[in-house]
Amino acid sequence: VSEHAVNEKGHLLIGGIDSLELAKTYETPLFVYDLSLIRARARAFLDTFKQENVVAQVAYASKAFSSVAMYQVIEQEGLSLDVVSAGELYTAIKAGYPAERIHFHGNNKSVEELILAMEHKIGCIVVDNFYEIELLKQLTVKLNQKVKVLLRVTPGVEAHTHDYITTGQQDSKFGFDLMNGQADKAFQQVYKDEFIELLGLHCHIGSQIFETIGFKVAAEKLITKMIEWENTFNYACTVLNLGGGFGIKYTEQDTPLEPSIYVKEMVIAVKDLVSKANLDMPEIWIEPGRSLVGDAGTSLYTIGSEKEVPEIRNYLAVDGGMSDNIRPALYGAEYSAAIANKMGELKEVEYTIAGKCCESGDKLIEHITLPKASPGDILAVFCTGAYGYAMASNYNRIAKPAVVFVENGRHQLAVKRETLEDLVRLDLPFTLEKGRG
Ligand code: LLP
Repeated sequence: VSEHAVNEKGHLLIGGIDSLELAKTYETPLFVYDLSLIRARARAFLDTFKQENVVAQVAYASKAFSSVAMYQVIEQEGLSLDVVSAGELYTAIKAGYPAERIHFHGNNKSVEELILAMEHKIGCIVVDNFYEIELLKQLTVKLNQKVKVLLRVTPGVEAHTHDYITTGQQDSKFGFDLMNGQADKAFQQVYKDEFIELLGLHCHIGSQIFETIGFKVAAEKLITKMIEWENTFNYACTVLNLGGGFGIKYTEQDTPLEPSIYVKEMVIAVKDLVSKANLDMPEIWIEPGRSLVGDAGTSLYTIGSEKEVPEIRNYLAVDGGMSDNIRPALYGAEYSAAIANKMGELKEVEYTIAGKCCESGDKLIEHITLPKASPGDILAVFCTGAYGYAMASNYNRIAKPAVVFVENGRHQLAVKRETLEDLVRLDLPFTLEKGRG
């Protein structure tokens, strides 16, 4: 917390703006994104590829947080975009995202989704399974239109924070297994197809990864397969997509690497493998989500009730909770926080931060030491920019928070707060006759 900027009033600053002013202007709970951090990350990824002289695409995995304004900021930075549903694709199109820089993922894309993607002539479809190949063959003929694709494969590498495991086969709902012939079969079904242009291979080995070894092992497995296909079928893949998963620092225990380190080590490994095999250097594509927007986001809540459970804990309740951040309840995810209007005060009380949902598991942070809190204080929970708003729900008919962007002392609303009226907007009155037997 000490690294956070604070003004003379002892208030937390976000993007140069007093967070108390933001809370007052936009009310709470509120997601605040500091755009300068997102831009810095985007540039770090892109610049490193440039320095290494590698043709690359850095696609924002927008499942981490998507909205029209966010897509527009990402577009300004020259990134590509990874979408996983008609909803994300539609939002990106509405935002004016150049379709040729959009990549479409998913293990069960519908016909309607594939048609939407083709109508907009998006850059690439990441093909996940045999059913999808079938659908694409039918649709490309029917619409008389070519598509560019990557094949998503599971390389038998699973990475999570400090560990990575390699297995012969991966139990995953995604992609073609690289080891058991599925990927070969998929390759043979598409590489000669006159409408399907196969660009290369894709894999995604996990999330919140702190090491580079998993990416290197995965790269080796994919490149080995590319070499095999080039030798056997005389077909050269030109794209190697190594997915996302670069970690961020939620708490002191987390030890992520700099974006430049992930990229550099990846590039060194790929260059090495490629030169040994006398292969042309492929384009390297990556898909960071969390590492682009995660620590740029801060959640602001108003503190309300407090309950002491003697000798166990003090619950401090905020005006949001698992409805705007499901990650602690779902994954046991940990966060750090501060009282935004008491940044200079001594931390002397241990609290458990509870949400307002009717569920005992609705705790945002267990055991955090903060200055003595009072109702009306503003709690800032840090690093909530990825998979926070994106996974928010209306559980308990709680309205979704607003989202604000700040940059260089300026601020703007990016997503409006839901209203009570919004919550009943899709509801219809009961019109059947009152049931009798
Ligand atoms: N590419 C693919 C194919 C993915 O499936 C994902 C994430 C990413 C890229 C981006 O990964 P990132 O860089 O954000 O780690 N809801 C979970 C995370 C789910 C990640 C799913 N796939 C969480 O809150 O931790």
